Amino acid sequence: MIIKHSFPFVGKEEVKEVERIIKEGILSAGKIVEKFERKILKFVGTKFSVAVNSGSASLFLILKFLPKVFPELSGKKKVIIPSFACPAISNAALFAGYEPVFSDINLDTFALDFDDVKKRITPDTLAIVYIHSFGICNDLKDFISLGVPVVEGIAQSFGGKVNGKFVGSYGVASFSSFYATKVITTAEGGSVFSDEKKLIDKIKDFIDYDKKDYEPDQFRFNFKMSDIQAAIGLAQLKKISFILKTRKNLGLYYIKKLHNLERFLKIPSKENNIFFRFVVLTDGRVKAESVIEFMRKKGIMADKPIWKPLHYFYGNGSDLKNTEFAYEHGISLPIHLSITKKQIDFISYILGKALQTQMNKTGDKNF
Ligand SMILES: Cc1ncc(COP(=O)(O)O)c(C=O)c1O
Repeated sequence: MIIKHSFPFVGKEEVKEVERIIKEGILSAGKIVEKFERKILKFVGTKFSVAVNSGSASLFLILKFLPKVFPELSGKKKVIIPSFACPAISNAALFAGYEPVFSDINLDTFALDFDDVKKRITPDTLAIVYIHSFGICNDLKDFISLGVPVVEGIAQSFGGKVNGKFVGSYGVASFSSFYATKVITTAEGGSVFSDEKKLIDKIKDFIDYDKKDYEPDQFRFNFKMSDIQAAIGLAQLKKISFILKTRKNLGLYYIKKLHNLERFLKIPSKENNIFFRFVVLTDGRVKAESVIEFMRKKGIMADKPIWKPLHYFYGNGSDLKNTEFAYEHGISLPIHLSITKKQIDFISYILGKALQTQMNKTGDKNF
């Protein structure tokens, strides 16, 4: 049997909502998208949101329109992003016309490292894109005090809180993806969140091109979410408490089961963690790749936490030691709503075996 790394959590509630929308005959962006935009605010804590067709689009739109809302940002060309992230982040920065400046991560949070970010800020920095990675939610007061706008990525930590405050409500704006296997899904989709009404209004206007006048140098572009997608999203929002509770239980169970491997593995903290992913780090003696290969042969689809560090592609930040370490030693274990505790028992057992086998191979007798 194959244990999948991630898997969507949808059921008859979503089917019912979509069926209703199809029968009513209004499929594209309309009242259901507007309802989704209103209802979702309860889980992010900002005043406004706009739904779009992907997480990538949502970050692109924030970066494109920040200087239109804050004229003092006009002409700034650089955006600080973590190298240890998915390419959607650098793609969005590049598509919006900025140079991505890759910064290192903190190995406790897998998110941007404060001191590393600080040293990369210049007068040309437009924004810091802070990703709350793998479900680990972080307080951003320190980053915000740097005086550069902080844009938060909450695709992997949606619904999580730190110090009683939702992630996504710390920065000037935040964005999420609702891709099939995310915390909540709309099949494909994303949202922008902010207290800045002007930013949201500009984005809403930009993504809806029809029956509007245009200035000679103006254009708009369709990035809209459909009512069908929003209907799935509304059904998902009704389940969010269950989703977060189940993920928490699974994460805590993993922590319990991996307790005996703590001498060899860095295990994620349970604090401020919604356990979107369960990422462990080997202590350096064993490379992740060999462990992942071993586990996959046993039917466990463990994976690298990210595809590749982004600075490998664009090459302007080669001194990212923690990023390199996490890439070589990070293992993302399967976690999703369909996984059972029995499967976690098996995964934990096989992970131990994989570590033991690799350490034996290298002649390390300390297992
Ligand atoms: C943290 C994060 N932000 C943004 C995205 C991009 O989202 P989308 O695939 O909806 O464009 C992803 C995709 O995996 C992601 O993991």
